[in-house]
Amino acid sequence: MTKNRSIYILGIESSCDDTSAAVICNGKVLSNVVANQEIHAKYGGVVPELASRAHQQNIVPVIQQALEQANIGKKDLKAIAFTRGPGLMGSLLVGTSFSKSLSQALNIPLIAVNHMQGHVLAHFIEDENQQKPPFPFLCLTISGGHTQIVKINSYASMEILGETIDDAVGEAFDKSAKILGLPYPGGPFIDKYAKLGNPTAFKFTKPKVDGLNFSFSGLKTGILYFVQKKVAENPDFIKENLHDICASIQATIIEILTDKMKAAVKQTGIKHFAIAGGVSANSGIREALKSFETKYGWTTYIPKFEYTTDNAAMIAIAGYFKFLEADFSTKNVIATARLKVHEN
Ligand code: KG4
Ligand code: ZN
Repeated sequence: MTKNRSIYILGIESSCDDTSAAVICNGKVLSNVVANQEIHAKYGGVVPELASRAHQQNIVPVIQQALEQANIGKKDLKAIAFTRGPGLMGSLLVGTSFSKSLSQALNIPLIAVNHMQGHVLAHFIEDENQQKPPFPFLCLTISGGHTQIVKINSYASMEILGETIDDAVGEAFDKSAKILGLPYPGGPFIDKYAKLGNPTAFKFTKPKVDGLNFSFSGLKTGILYFVQKKVAENPDFIKENLHDICASIQATIIEILTDKMKAAVKQTGIKHFAIAGGVSANSGIREALKSFETKYGWTTYIPKFEYTTDNAAMIAIAGYFKFLEADFSTKNVIATARLKVHEN
C-alpha cells in the first residue's frame, strides 16, 4: 500500500495529566507516545493548573516524537483526532486549541473524540493477538473519573446502563492508597502489594446500591475508620499488614464490580463483556474476568496493557471510525469538561 492510500490519523490526548500523541494507519498503531506528568505526585493528586502548563510544554515534542516513530511527516496525515472531553478544562483546552491550529495549517479534517468512547474503542485497534468484540457488547469503563456499565451498540452508539452515584473506582483505589501512605496514583501500588497478600484477611462492607449503579464513597470511609482504629491499637499496623490490607481492599472492589457485571449480563442477556479505562490495568480484575469465560461462558475482552491508562492511540482509533463516516468537526468545536459516554 502506498503512503497515499493509507489513512494516517494523528490522535492527541490531553484530558487529565498525560500528554499523548499517536499515529495510526488504517486502524494499526504506528506510534503511541505518552508523557506522564511527574509533578503531581508530591501533591497527592492532579493539580489542574500545573497539568495545563505541563501539557503546553509537552505537546509539541510529544507530537514530533509520534510522527518520527511512525516514520511519516505532517503532510502524510489525513486528519487530526483530539479529546474534546470529558476531563479538566485547562488540560482539554491545550489539546483542543493545538489540534484546531494544526488541522487548519495542514488543511485537513478535525475530529472531536469523546475520551470515554476512546477507552471503549481501544478494543478495535488492529492487533493480531487481540479479538474484537461483536456488537452489541457490554463494557465496564473504569477510570479515575468514571465507573460505568455501558452497552455498546456500534462505534458511535453507546448507552449507560449503570454508573457510580459518588466516587469512581479509580478514586477508591487512589484514596485507599493515600490512607495507607502510598504515593499518587495509588491504584498500581495496591495492585502490586495485593499480589503478595491474603484477600480474605480483612472484611470491608460492600455498599447496597439499586440496579446497575455503583457507590464507592462508603467503602473509602470504612477503610479510613478501620485503619485509624487499628493504628491506634498498634502504630505499626499498616507496615506489618500492608500486603493483606491491599489484597483485601482489592478483593472487595473487584467483588463490587463483578457483582454488577453479573447482574448486567442477567438483565441484557449479552455475554460479551469488555473492560476499559485506567483501572482495567488491574491484575485482579483482569484475572477475574478471564475466569468468567469458563465459569459463566462469557467471552471477555481485556485491553492490551498500554491501551488501559490514558493514551492517544485510543483517541486516534475513535477518530478513524469517525473519519470513515466523514464525521468531522468545525473549527468552532469547544472543549467540554463534562461529556457523557453517549454524547458525540
Ligand atoms: O483512565 P485513566 O488513565 O485516567 C482517567 O481517565 O481517569 O485512569 C487512571 C486511574 C487512576 O485512578 C489509577 O490509580 C488507576 O487508573 N489505575 C489502577 C491501576 N493502574 C491505573 N487502579 C488499580 N490497579 C491498577 N493496576
Ligand atoms: Zn481515561
